[in-house]
Amino acid sequence: MIPKDTIHSIMDAARIEEVVGDFVQLKRRGVNLLGLCPFHNEKTPSFTVSPAKGIYKCFGCGKAGNAVNFVMEHEKYSYPEALRYLANKYGIEIEEQEPDPEEKQLETDREGLFSVSNFAQKYFTDTLFETEEGKAIGLSYFLERGFREDIIRKFQLGFSPTAWDAFTNHARQNGYPEKYLVDSGLSISKDGRMYDRFRERVMFPIHNLTGKVIGFGGRILTSDKTKPKYVNSPESEIYNKSKSLYGIWLARNTIVSRDNCFLVEGYTDVISLHQSGIENVVASSGTSLTTDQIRLISRYTRNITILYDGDTAGIKASFRGIDMILEQGMNVKVVLFPDGEDPDSYSRKHSSSEVEAFLATEASDFITFKTTLLLSETKNDPIKKAGLVHDIIQTISLIPDPIIRPLYIRECSEIMGIAEQTLMNELNKLLRKKRSKDAAAPEEPEEATPDTSIIAPPQELAPDITDCSAQERDLIRVLMLYGTQKFNIPVETEIPDLVEYSAISVAEYICNDLRVNQITFDLPVHQTIFDAFAKGVDEGSLPDEKYFTMHSDPEVTQLAIDLLSVKYELSPGWEEIKIYVSDESGDIGKLSEKAVLSLVHRKLRAMIHHNQREMKELDHNSELWVDHLSKDIFLKKALNEISRKLGRILNG
Ligand code: CTP
Ligand code: MN
Repeated sequence: MIPKDTIHSIMDAARIEEVVGDFVQLKRRGVNLLGLCPFHNEKTPSFTVSPAKGIYKCFGCGKAGNAVNFVMEHEKYSYPEALRYLANKYGIEIEEQEPDPEEKQLETDREGLFSVSNFAQKYFTDTLFETEEGKAIGLSYFLERGFREDIIRKFQLGFSPTAWDAFTNHARQNGYPEKYLVDSGLSISKDGRMYDRFRERVMFPIHNLTGKVIGFGGRILTSDKTKPKYVNSPESEIYNKSKSLYGIWLARNTIVSRDNCFLVEGYTDVISLHQSGIENVVASSGTSLTTDQIRLISRYTRNITILYDGDTAGIKASFRGIDMILEQGMNVKVVLFPDGEDPDSYSRKHSSSEVEAFLATEASDFITFKTTLLLSETKNDPIKKAGLVHDIIQTISLIPDPIIRPLYIRECSEIMGIAEQTLMNELNKLLRKKRSKDAAAPEEPEEATPDTSIIAPPQELAPDITDCSAQERDLIRVLMLYGTQKFNIPVETEIPDLVEYSAISVAEYICNDLRVNQITFDLPVHQTIFDAFAKGVDEGSLPDEKYFTMHSDPEVTQLAIDLLSVKYELSPGWEEIKIYVSDESGDIGKLSEKAVLSLVHRKLRAMIHHNQREMKELDHNSELWVDHLSKDIFLKKALNEISRKLGRILNG
């Protein structure tokens, strides 16, 4: 844990222009610096850095943030990783906060495991290159397979000797405790003796995102069918199989720059593709892809291309896993290798440019691929074909983007020779079923579901009316941009009909109003910012912009900078924004009132919705049901009142 004070010293020390300057060539332009945006492709620079504000903003793609955000985004670091990077750059020592004993033990254990894994990798690599046995058996195997030496070194491949306990003994002599040898799985303890898990195998170390060794796969070199081809490390405190991807540490940068990730089956496929110059590739190592692995990839790209060898049974077995990828909103393509070939064998037989060209031309869309493949198996059997329609529509229904779904319907209708409308009806049926299962589905009459008897056009799932995040965000925006500005509000006096005006700050108005109405925020980041303003209102000193843009919570800084950067005149010639801001700030009172009312309105609708849902579960004769009913009436009255006020503001 990094102490808060240290986080602040790091943020103070980090000069945005220096941090960005390590990655982007910047030129001075007035008070700011300008360069080509590292986050999207551009030919004319629109990436602006403001040393005075300590932030960057790209006017092309909209990305904005402070030094920490930049390092996180650019290097794909986690928050603590980014802080450590900056601390290192600026020579700031991080005195880690004393964790509790349990945490401390865990941390020590993890370090012990990392250390012994690193030690083992070095040992296996040394054995491969330096010993007679290693060279004769291991190295010659790799070279015969066509792996170049630089690639063997890049992947830190190795060899584990034939002797029963060669590694275990070596590690013990070097002071590694048995506990870590056993917990890492490198050694096995049986009947009071210790021996090596991996013997006479070539070794493939598995790395985490940052390139630390967390486990191993060891491949057998004989064709002994009684032994498994691969022996793998068991799960440990540092190795979670379902969360790791083989090769990700070497692939992540290229995945970002190519905006695509190739997914293959095995260690050797990853290595051979690298040798052919294709580096945006990872393997799930023989198991089907997990949601955690998909999330890991989705940090870098929305596009996955799956490389299949020609085994139909294997391909069909993978379809389920691919549904999961689609469900995450990712785009999936597939490449099918010719019979008997896999990415490894193919790239050994072809030149880099041939492999590159093959992948580019053969990649086809997953749903089209699945439809074509399954259709070829139905052989015009109508029952099988009906089953296929259902299967495909089910897959399409998982795609979250409502604009993409109809495009697939059209495509599949053409492939299968079934009317588009029939497929669309089928899809809508499924979507409706899903919607009624969906707990957050609206049941208010005003959002009534369309008549099911008519043919429904491609439709979007009804928006979630319990989701208040947009209104919350807008209110936070108004607080951020105008919190300190003042406007006049009418106050009643002792004398009837005499109204006086008193100046109040936007923050005071918003914070007090929401607190009176007991409104809380659904998103923690919104609540944090609101609380800071509320505290400022109470103490008579509002937080300034720097308080948020240099906050210790990266979500706060990111949101603050996103909201504030519209107003920063970072780029000369960005007048549009200035006009927009000054336009909006014309009637600050009205703007504040509208933001408050919109949020309250939305919150009320959400409350009504929740209340009605609870009512459905209750017995109509129960007291609780009556309570709910009166709450319903009360809330609806309040909602009417707010709607009226909101209407007046919007129209007046
Ligand atoms: N695998 C495993 N255990 C096995 C077989 C396979 O863990 N007994 C995993 C390994 O991660 C392997 C992947 O599944 O990399 C793919 O298996 P396979 O294609 O058989 O192995 P390759 O790595 O391609 O090895 P080779 O090309 O040498 O056959
Ligand atoms: Mn293989």
